[in-house]
Amino acid sequence: MAAELDAAYWQQRYIDSDAPWDLGGPSTPLAAYLDGLKDRDLRILIPGAGRAYEAEYAHRLGFKNVYPMDLTGAPFDELLERCPSFPQEHLLVGDFFEHEGSYDIILEQTFFCALDPALRERYVAHMHALLNPGGKLVGVLFNIPLNADRPPFGGSASEYAPLFRKHFHEVSLEPCRNSITPRAGNEVWLCAVKEKAYTPIDCNLYDRYEAAATLKRPVVLTLDSGATVQGVIMDLFIRDRIEWLRLNSGEEIRLDGIVRME
Ligand SMILES: C[S@@+](CC[C@H](N)C(=O)[O-])C[C@H]1O[C@@H](n2cnc3c(N)ncnc32)[C@H](O)[C@@H]1O
Repeated sequence: MAAELDAAYWQQRYIDSDAPWDLGGPSTPLAAYLDGLKDRDLRILIPGAGRAYEAEYAHRLGFKNVYPMDLTGAPFDELLERCPSFPQEHLLVGDFFEHEGSYDIILEQTFFCALDPALRERYVAHMHALLNPGGKLVGVLFNIPLNADRPPFGGSASEYAPLFRKHFHEVSLEPCRNSITPRAGNEVWLCAVKEKAYTPIDCNLYDRYEAAATLKRPVVLTLDSGATVQGVIMDLFIRDRIEWLRLNSGEEIRLDGIVRME
């Protein structure tokens, strides 16, 4: 690595106005995502927020619990100049990897690519730890090689997918359709969802799954996503304090995600 990517490094880049990543406003994919969220009470973390245009955008939309975080406070001075009503107590200055908290949404925008790639595994694990059950890490990642020795570090969706799938229950990495023009075609939209909290199911219902499994009776299951799956229940088991069944196809389904069995 050419430089130590510590607070002094990033602070100096802001002092030198050497911030080519800075868009001067919220990135279009993140702004569109925020536009689509209805619940203004969601707790939103934006790590590596820099001048925090997305935090300002969310604040102006009426989100009450937006927390931009950065290793250096330098870029937050500008945020407060642009948007004096932004709650100062929500500005988090410090190392993301040391941060503790719980959030419903974490937004990613040129933070992943700013970190030494050796930290990616820790990044994903820590994002997962900071999210509430059912919480989401969303945002844009570069899908292009970029630099090997200094930020921005690039990569590809096929490289990222196993990293995120190791910790997150549901991961999608799709070509980003509303990137800003200079990044068009070179970004993917990430949505990684943390397992939701388990709602214990009724004993009678559990008995019905058990009976179907014992009799090897083919079943049709309607899931809370609206999807239906069919098969024979081969196993009922508990993993991470969540009850699951396994079908003969190998598919594993959380019992609290089933709305009907026929
Ligand atoms: C490439 S800049 C992106 C800033 C902002 N997301 C944007 O798009 O304008 C990366 C930012 O991450 C911050 N950063 C780097 N390492 C960090 C860490 N370990 N914890 C918190 N912030 C960090 C830097 O200070 C810098 O502001």
